[in-house]
Amino acid sequence: NFIKATNVYPQQHHVSRTKRGQVLGQRGGFRGCCIWLTGLSGAGKSTIAFALEEYLCGKAIPSYTLDGDNIRTGLNKNLGFTAEDREENIRRVGEVARLFADGGIVAISAFISPFQKDRDIARQLHEDNGLKFIEVFVDTPLEECERRDVKGLYKKAHEGKIKGFTGIDSPYERPENPEIVVKTTELAVDECVQTIVSVMQENGIVP
Ligand code: PPS
Ligand code: ADP
Repeated sequence: NFIKATNVYPQQHHVSRTKRGQVLGQRGGFRGCCIWLTGLSGAGKSTIAFALEEYLCGKAIPSYTLDGDNIRTGLNKNLGFTAEDREENIRRVGEVARLFADGGIVAISAFISPFQKDRDIARQLHEDNGLKFIEVFVDTPLEECERRDVKGLYKKAHEGKIKGFTGIDSPYERPENPEIVVKTTELAVDECVQTIVSVMQENGIVP
């Protein structure tokens, strides 16, 4: 019902994924996929995403992190934090990640993405296009996120200066069936990265 684009027709590329993979990086082969991090604000999504990107870059595997704060100042700057806007935020990010993945890049997505339904839509979009989707639950207890309070936002939320803050007065639905759970209170950043890399190896994404 929200589809306004009528009389548009999907166009086919001339370059195959195999061909794209051959010209991308020294590591050869198509490795496009999506690593989808989800978790509370302050859970460690950005930290892990950028460390994973750095690790992959060091292995000559092209990757790119889509980060909440960055996307929300650009592509999605017209969206706020109502349930509807979060849904649209994640819908667009899912589409962008899919484009990156189709282009042969490991798309690393780092958004709270609080709703299971929206994460499932992003997954479906990849899987329908023959692209691996690995959901990573960055499982950090709310109390720990509040203790870290990296940006001082929990303090503001408790003072009522931010309304509808995830975990305080806006819901976070824990993933039902994630491929990976990383507990950041038990593992160091590089151990979280290694956990993800192992699963990427099992899936033939990382040699
Ligand atoms: S969502 O729910 O997936 O659409 O959110 P996301 O795009 O990841 O954006 C989360 C970052 O926005 C800041 N912020 C808020 N987060 C949650 N709730 C509210 N109301 C809110 N307002 C601003 C906050 O810095 C989040 O960044 P992270 O990196 O998660 O801490
Ligand atoms: P998010 O992107 O989920 O909002 P950030 O990555 O911005 O979270 O902040 C997470 C904070 O937690 C950082 O200050 C980081 O140094 C700290 N931290 C401690 N242990 C870990 C870990 N194992 N993984 C990720 N972050 C961690």
